[in-house]
Amino acid sequence: MDNGKRSVLRKTWEQQDASYQGMMLNSKAPLLHEEDTSEILSYLPTLQGLDVVELGSGIGRFTGSLAKTADHVLAVDFVDKFIKKNKEVNSMFTNIDYIVDDAMNIKLEPNSVGFVFTNWLFMYLDDNDTTRLLNNILKWVPSEGYVFIRESCLYGSGDLSFGENTTYYREARQYEELFRTISTTTSGGAKEYCFRIDKSKSLDSYIKVMKNKNQIAWLLQKVRRENEARL
Ligand SMILES: C[S@@+](CC[C@H](N)C(=O)[O-])C[C@H]1O[C@@H](n2cnc3c(N)ncnc32)[C@H](O)[C@@H]1O
Repeated sequence: MDNGKRSVLRKTWEQQDASYQGMMLNSKAPLLHEEDTSEILSYLPTLQGLDVVELGSGIGRFTGSLAKTADHVLAVDFVDKFIKKNKEVNSMFTNIDYIVDDAMNIKLEPNSVGFVFTNWLFMYLDDNDTTRLLNNILKWVPSEGYVFIRESCLYGSGDLSFGENTTYYREARQYEELFRTISTTTSGGAKEYCFRIDKSKSLDSYIKVMKNKNQIAWLLQKVRRENEARL
């Protein structure tokens, strides 16, 4: 995404309140937040002993819950006031570090991250950046490591206005095609690891409260690509 578009997106987010409503862009946020977070947390693998990276953490609707079981959480968001709020609400945790930066700028060592969590991030990245970030994430997690992704597909999740031209409402199958194209290669150019879609779920909370079945969550696992034809 070019820098102009990126800065429009960041400025649009900077205008949002550092509140559940601001994060969810939804007037029903106080009611939805509880159901949304508890459903999503129920789909995560066990985080015990893991170093977790949360990209686009916002004010921390999930950060504290991740920190309760993980060894460590690195929360990243490019809006300073969201990270400030996140720090404030999660000040009781000593195992969270925060970075104010664009997720695209984050550089981590291969195999150094036990679990990557994103909730509504890729919908703000164009196809090139989505592919680039997925490639980075595939390298960061070790073999068998998990990645959680939740996105608004086809249309928005909320009823509050936002810069619609800065959002990519992809179809679920477009994400799934992308997940299937990502792989690491050996020095000889052979495909080595890829993502397996372990779970794909239309969120019950949004079907119930918003009559929206296009809030899609995926749990991906990094696996060895043993048989390309099969995948
Ligand atoms: C819809 S909010 C969701 C926040 C949080 N994940 C949640 O579920 O409450 C999207 C968040 O992603 C952040 N964001 C969007 N694009 C980003 C990027 N390229 N790098 C870092 N943060 C980004 C925004 O600042 C915002 O906090």
